[in-house]
Amino acid sequence: MLQRPKICLPIVGNLRDEITETARKMKDLPVQMVEWRMDFFAGYEREIPDLACELKKILGDKELICTLRTQAEGGQANGGRFDYHKLVLDLLAKGDADYIDVELERAPEELHEGKAERKAKLIGSYHNFQETETEEEIYKRLKKAMDLGMDVGKCAYMPKTLEDVNRLLDATGRMKEDFPDFPLITMSMGELGQMSRLYGGLYGSLVSFASYDQESAPGQVDYREMVSCFDKIYKGNKHICLVGFMGVGKSTISLTLKEMTGREEIDTDAWIEEAEGKTISQIFKDQGEEHFRQLETAMIDDLADLPPAIVSCGGGMALREINRRKLKAMGQVVWLEAEPETIYERVKDSDNRPILQGNMNVEFIRSLMDKRLPFYKKAATVRVKTDGRELEEIAKEILEKTS
Ligand code: S3P
Repeated sequence: MLQRPKICLPIVGNLRDEITETARKMKDLPVQMVEWRMDFFAGYEREIPDLACELKKILGDKELICTLRTQAEGGQANGGRFDYHKLVLDLLAKGDADYIDVELERAPEELHEGKAERKAKLIGSYHNFQETETEEEIYKRLKKAMDLGMDVGKCAYMPKTLEDVNRLLDATGRMKEDFPDFPLITMSMGELGQMSRLYGGLYGSLVSFASYDQESAPGQVDYREMVSCFDKIYKGNKHICLVGFMGVGKSTISLTLKEMTGREEIDTDAWIEEAEGKTISQIFKDQGEEHFRQLETAMIDDLADLPPAIVSCGGGMALREINRRKLKAMGQVVWLEAEPETIYERVKDSDNRPILQGNMNVEFIRSLMDKRLPFYKKAATVRVKTDGRELEEIAKEILEKTS
């Protein structure tokens, strides 16, 4: 089940009054968690448990994470003055924090046991500010947190490319699929990683760290932007989204569905063309396919503002994992299927399909279709065949299967 992630704001003050004052300001904000970064605290170690208790009282029903981030893992030098193990154990014994973040490599061994009796949940975390590991390694880190008896597994990586960000998200999605009950928090940092903070929930990340007035890690998004993004994605809109190869009949079937249901019909290509003020072919020519794919990914969020509609998606919309997840969050995804010969007959005179320019033949269509089939399959919540069938018949089947 898709869950709206909790938004967590960091408290990074140095002085006691400054810290409690920030907590008071955060108390009424539309976020669910607050993380006190204890490594920013300039006071004495012995003051910490008492201050955690005061913070929890101020924050009321907001959950409190207490974190002593070491310098090697992106924390402040300040925190090096404190006894890491002792502090974690003291806080755990008092139980004022709802969560305590412990770096997996430093977690005292006694923390691996006694999950059921703990007074606070433990987040077993791993940070890498240099690079993003392989999907397998990220998966193993999260699994290790689970195997070591942590209550939550957390990984934060610095990406160098968009591919790094997607790998982090894919590892999160795979781990969530294999162990749905084990809570995960994952993120890609820096500007490039911002999409993981906004969309990580679609892959199963439970918490996203946003900024209030100061970042506690690179790339955090302002909490107001995050709230409005989550309002859109997790609204639970009930669109019917049609995906499938070019020429499979998405546009004509969606118009039939519009007539039958009275719903609004949205064509993602037409939406993008209008927003950009140019045709798809022109966008491919001027800015390239990758740019067009970014526009597709971004436009899905706009669907959230519409009442339940029929959405006819461009033939490549289902290729990106993030698009598949966003579409599923906003409704049913119907995969329309047709044979390459049928497709060819329908598209052979089209001049606004840059992918087929110079490749307008059945063989090319068949081979591209074969490559894309796994993606359509993954995207679909419903499958409908279209060859040789009347539009009304297809539309009826779609409505039956999506109701
Ligand atoms: C594309 C399909 C087109 C359009 C663009 C790319 C594709 O949409 O989005 O030309 O990669 O399959 P239609 O499926 O509506 O033709």
